[in-house]
Amino acid sequence: MSNDRTAGTSRRAFLRGSVAAAAGAVAAGSARAQDADPLITEVQDWASGFGAGVDEVPYGLPIEFESDVIRRNVEWLTADTISSINFTPIHALDGTITPQGCAFERHHSGAIELKKEDYRLMINGLVETPLVFTYADLERFPRENHVYFCECAANTGMEWAGAQLNGAQFTHGMIHNMEYTGVPLRTLLAEAGLGDDLADKWVYVEGADASSNGRSIPMEKALDDVLVAFKANGEALRKEHGYPVRLVVPGWEGNMWVKWIRRIEVTSGPVESREETSKYTDTLADGTSRKWTWVMDAKSVVTSPSPQMPITHGHGPLVITGMAWSGHGRITRVDVSRDGGMTWETARLANEGENKALTRFYLDTTWAGEEMLLQSRAMDETGYVQPTKAQLREVRGENSIYHNNCIQTWHVKANGEAENVEVS
Ligand code: MTE
Ligand code: CO
Repeated sequence: MSNDRTAGTSRRAFLRGSVAAAAGAVAAGSARAQDADPLITEVQDWASGFGAGVDEVPYGLPIEFESDVIRRNVEWLTADTISSINFTPIHALDGTITPQGCAFERHHSGAIELKKEDYRLMINGLVETPLVFTYADLERFPRENHVYFCECAANTGMEWAGAQLNGAQFTHGMIHNMEYTGVPLRTLLAEAGLGDDLADKWVYVEGADASSNGRSIPMEKALDDVLVAFKANGEALRKEHGYPVRLVVPGWEGNMWVKWIRRIEVTSGPVESREETSKYTDTLADGTSRKWTWVMDAKSVVTSPSPQMPITHGHGPLVITGMAWSGHGRITRVDVSRDGGMTWETARLANEGENKALTRFYLDTTWAGEEMLLQSRAMDETGYVQPTKAQLREVRGENSIYHNNCIQTWHVKANGEAENVEVS
């Protein structure tokens, strides 16, 4: 009963909202319902004949009208396209799952083509029995499904010095969120036999591409939630995401998610490879470097409105939306500010936050053409609150590239256009 009443109340509130919306639309110059609209009064081409047959597209791509929802590069970042990066069009997506076809790619030596039949995964080093698995072998172990985000440690890295790139795709698009199917790494390690003494043991993981992208992972994490994954969003991994098998290292920097994984060596300490010494470390103001910065801290961004998603619909109802994530666990709350962080409103989470996965948030509001300094601020289950840029700079200086999780600001103007800015 009480639920019904609540639903009734909110429906009435919504109806009042739509009256306001219609009034706003008229004010903004849209057609009124009584004007003749040929899209309603005339028979359209698509209703006067047949559509496409089911035999025309064995595997579908998005309809041509969505052809701008694509990965994009930043030209000055892309000296060559082999050792390079592109960005997920997060501004144009909704919900939480990233389709593989537009999920960002980061390769150090290009995306390789490796057939399942040619695939081998070796586990060696300090194990009782070194083993080699074929793809078919991996499919015979009990498997699990989990949704996780993968964020490159360099995501938002270009924004350390100042507001630079005009679009959520470019400032925050080195992230994707997929449902992975795979075998827990601990299952394969147990098959090889780890023995009883796990103290100071690590695993060193490397890929089959020329770069090999070798990284050391402490045993505690390797035995926790790391997956040896072969499916993403229900289908085979795409070539660019590591077909046929990649490592999934939940909540930790994307660089450790080794693609085309070919070898896992159990070691008595970290290898200190190139990817974890000269790269993926940050120099602080006093000249010392941060190392082993594995976890991606809580972060969020408003995806619409944003520079690539201006407000085009006039005054009245406005949906502000974005996404939040934390490598430490679940997102518990996201606040949105329209005045550059002076006042905050708590956003609605579309779903309860999931462990180390993207959470979608909405602020269902109204807009009367006022300028906004739009921000979002994520909180996770550990109580951590996403910092401002000033707070982050205070601790980390200005020489960093990686792990910039500061609050982002979009300046939304009276005409609905938005720009990347910094507030002090
Ligand atoms: N694994 C291999 N073998 N080679 C690589 O170049 N790039 C890493 C990681 N795994 C890389 C790799 C980096 S830096 C990131 S951010 C993620 O893969 C990106 O994964 P994606 O291309 O599926 O988005
Ligand atoms: Co990366």
